[in-house]
Amino acid sequence: MSDCASIWRRYDADERRLTGAVSERMLDLGLLRPGMQVLDIATGRGEPAIRAAKRVAPNGAVLGVDVAAELLAMAAERAADEDVTGLELRVADAHSLEGVPRGRFDVALARWGLMYFDDPIAALDSIRLALRPGGRLVAAFWAEPELVDYIHVPRSALASLMALPPIDEDVPGTFRYAHRERIERDLASVGFLVNHVEERWTPVMEASTDDELIAWTRSFGMQRLLVDLPDPMQRAWERRLIETAEPLWKDGRLRLGGVTRLVVADRPG
Ligand SMILES: C[S@@+](CC[C@H](N)C(=O)[O-])C[C@H]1O[C@@H](n2cnc3c(N)ncnc32)[C@H](O)[C@@H]1O
Repeated sequence: MSDCASIWRRYDADERRLTGAVSERMLDLGLLRPGMQVLDIATGRGEPAIRAAKRVAPNGAVLGVDVAAELLAMAAERAADEDVTGLELRVADAHSLEGVPRGRFDVALARWGLMYFDDPIAALDSIRLALRPGGRLVAAFWAEPELVDYIHVPRSALASLMALPPIDEDVPGTFRYAHRERIERDLASVGFLVNHVEERWTPVMEASTDDELIAWTRSFGMQRLLVDLPDPMQRAWERRLIETAEPLWKDGRLRLGGVTRLVVADRPG
């Protein structure tokens, strides 16, 4: 099993519980109902595809695609556990969506996926072509870095100890679409019409001890920045992280998350 898959096995159930409301809201914005054909881009461990399949049952269908076969295997296990029908999971690159029917889907979903692609405009164009005329894309992005605690808090703890490279919003990563104008521009460039944007705060991690906070943070977001640091610096960062997060604890529990931006765009009919 790859490192990425073993990390996800550890945190999957928690993340599903914490972020489920975002997926459900995406399905509301997509106006999902029984009988619809839905495409979930970069579905990973099956979000929001598995929930979508429940909404479009009994006669609708969902196709979830991702490049990571190991994550799709986790999605398939969950779908089987939840007795989900009408869901196909397929390895496919969102840039070309090779083999995915064109003009078929009523709704395309992409939760926290597009910003990680090498060429998101190519992917957006492929998604548009997969939709039927009048079809709708609902996508989720992370907002500006200072609104995204799960990265901002551990990063600022490290930034208080050493100079950090600035976040590069021009390369694939969490913040590529942190600015609303960027995604609106790229959607328009391939012919989508943006009809709704909203923001909501969502938790992505929950800790009940400092060790849990450190372990989660090392797994998500900080791996690359920490990997080459000498041990004393790592320990200093851990202490600083605990201090920085201290005011955020409530009732013996710490949640970190961020503002996620949900964007709805239509393929003109
Ligand atoms: C942050 S995860 C989001 C997964 C899921 N949608 C969710 O919300 O839990 C990003 C996903 O994008 C997938 N991905 C990255 N590049 C891709 C590409 N070119 N085509 C399809 N999927 C891709 C990754 O494998 C990963 O599963």
